[in-house]
Amino acid sequence: MKYYILFGPPGAGKGTQAGAMVERYNLCHLSTGELLRSEIAAGSPLGLQAKALIEAGNLVPDEVVEGMIEARFKSVEGVNGFLLDGFPRTIAQAEALDKMLAKTGEEVTACVSLMIPDSLISERIAHRAQIEGRADDAKPEVVENRIRTYHDKTEPLIQFYKAEGKYCEIDGVGTIEEVKERIFGVMDRF
Ligand code: AP5
Ligand code: MG
Repeated sequence: MKYYILFGPPGAGKGTQAGAMVERYNLCHLSTGELLRSEIAAGSPLGLQAKALIEAGNLVPDEVVEGMIEARFKSVEGVNGFLLDGFPRTIAQAEALDKMLAKTGEEVTACVSLMIPDSLISERIAHRAQIEGRADDAKPEVVENRIRTYHDKTEPLIQFYKAEGKYCEIDGVGTIEEVKERIFGVMDRF
C-alpha cells in the first residue's frame, strides 16, 4: 500500500486537490479535520472533546487523531493506498504513524507538501468563510492561531520528512488546475 501525506498550512489547497488525487491513484482520502467535524456534527463524545479546541484553532490531542487513523487503515479495502490530509501534524504523530505502519512492514511513501505564503492563507480562508461556514474560519484571531500553530507544531515535520528523503514540495500558488498538474507531475513518479 502507498501512504501519501498531503501536507501544508491551513488553506493551502489540501482538501481542494484531494479529490483528483484519490481518483487518479485509487487512494482512500482520510482528512482528520473532516473526520473531526463529522464527530462534532454527530455530537459524539469525541466531537464534544474536540469542538472547543478546533474552534479556538488549537490541535486536538495526538492520541485522538492517531486512533481515528489507525482504525481506518484496518477497515478500508480495495484501494492502492491512503491520502492522509492534515495528518500527521506534530512530530509525535509522525512517529506514531511510522510505528503503526511498521507493524505490517510498511512505511510512508512520500510527503506531498503544498506551500503558500501566510498572506495567501488568510485571503483564501476569508473567502472560504463566506462559502462553507466552518466555525474555525469565522474569526481572524482563530485563523491567526491556526497559522501560528502550523508554524510551531507542524512545520518541523518538513525537516523530519526531508531527513527521510520523502519530502516533495509543490508550489501551491496558482490556479487549482496548475497546482493539480504540479502534484501529478510529482506523484506519477511513485
Ligand atoms: P483541517 O480541516 O485539516 O484544516 P487545516 O489544516 O487548517 O486546513 P484547511 O482545511 O483549512 O485547508 P486546506 O489546505 O484543506 O485548503 P482548501 O483546499 O479547503 O483541520 C481543522 C482543525 O482540526 C485543526 O485546526 C485542528 O484543530 C484539528 N485537526 C485536524 N487534524 C488534526 C491533527 N492531525 N492533529 C490535531 N488536530 C487536528 O482551500 C482553502 C480555500 O482556498 C478554499 O476556499 C478553496 O476553494 C481555495 N483554494 C484552494 N486552492 C486554490 C487555488 N489554487 N487558487 C485559489 N483558491 C484556492
Ligand atoms: Mg482541508
